[in-house]
Amino acid sequence: MSDRVTSSEACVPMRVVTVLGTRPQFVKAFPMSRQLRETGQLEEVMVHTGQHFDPDMSDVFFAELGINPPRYYLDIHGGRHGEMTGRMLEAVENILISERPQAVIVYGDTNSTLAGALAAAKLNLPIVHIEAGLRSYNRRMPEEINRVVVDHLSTVLLCPTERAVDNLRREGIVQGVHLVGDLTFDAAMIATPLAARLSSILPRLGLEPRRYGVATFHRAENVESSDRLARIASYLRDEAHHRPLILPLHPRTREALKSSGINLDGELLKTIEPLGYLDMCQLLRCAEIVITDSGGLQREAYFHRVPCITLREETEWNETVEYGWNRLWTVPDYLARREIPGYGKDLTAGRIIDILARSFARAQRSNSTCPSDIP
Ligand code: UD1
Repeated sequence: MSDRVTSSEACVPMRVVTVLGTRPQFVKAFPMSRQLRETGQLEEVMVHTGQHFDPDMSDVFFAELGINPPRYYLDIHGGRHGEMTGRMLEAVENILISERPQAVIVYGDTNSTLAGALAAAKLNLPIVHIEAGLRSYNRRMPEEINRVVVDHLSTVLLCPTERAVDNLRREGIVQGVHLVGDLTFDAAMIATPLAARLSSILPRLGLEPRRYGVATFHRAENVESSDRLARIASYLRDEAHHRPLILPLHPRTREALKSSGINLDGELLKTIEPLGYLDMCQLLRCAEIVITDSGGLQREAYFHRVPCITLREETEWNETVEYGWNRLWTVPDYLARREIPGYGKDLTAGRIIDILARSFARAQRSNSTCPSDIP
């Protein structure tokens, strides 16, 4: 079989392959998949790389959020970044050759995102990047490298914020760029009433609304050095003097704490296993404070108007800092608190699907593989 998808082969009507593999991607894919099912506008073939594989990092999201099970599960995880990405690249390429989609959808900035985008680019398939244009300007983060490369390969770049659009413009990317909003907001809006009805996390943990904090951290730069880990541990212990602090632990964080001999549990600091989305939503929206290095939680904290402290030296979500809802842990005070204009107000999935449907219709009329830009 030829390893190139030609333009006539690629134009199977309205068919997209989505490549994902990590917890935050399942959260973003869920409002999209739901809307796709409801509108029937595009056929989606889902490929789960297996990057996150623990049932409570993966299966629970599919079950709770009603995401159709992926058509392909690659079971690729662990190893070095290059090794993991390379194995994914090879496997995704084979799937794209046999599925012949019109476009490939990738989310965010993980190794699964990079592998999906590279596989598509090598087959001349258009890439739709959801959450395009985010930058920390810190190339030591694996996620930053992934984002920059994927944005430069993408055909349709769907940005969550004005700033993301500006970031792309500064790198010379203006074609195919759309400001669509943030799918994390859709996910939070769908989940909130369900979580309020179905989650028993507060009584299970003996917590009262607004009288506890939630903390999470897992980023490579925070867990790979014992010094850094010890600094974060001491910061969290201090924070737990003010109020109980619940810490759902990412598997890599649990592993890192164990090998550094750090036990975080104390009178008011309690580590627990990773939570499903509905429990996390309920825990977060009733919290007094969120302390995190996760990009998703910084935004979710804003959607629920819960103040956030970010365990990093910079953030891609600077708006949350500038408008007083978030602060870096190295900065003592919040700025004056205001609503972030135009962010976290409207649903995004419908907009994305309209853009893709119009792009595909246009591409088919002109018999090209590439969804053209919508003016
Ligand atoms: C990845 C993403 C990051 C995202 C995060 C969300 C990259 C480079 N990073 O980092 O952008 O914010 O997901 O959680 O892609 N592990 C388990 N069980 C699991 C998942 C992971 O034990 O279900 C272990 C892995 O084997 C590995 C470690 O945790 O040893 C780190 O996993 P990795 O795949 O690098 O992802 P994250 O750190 O979660």
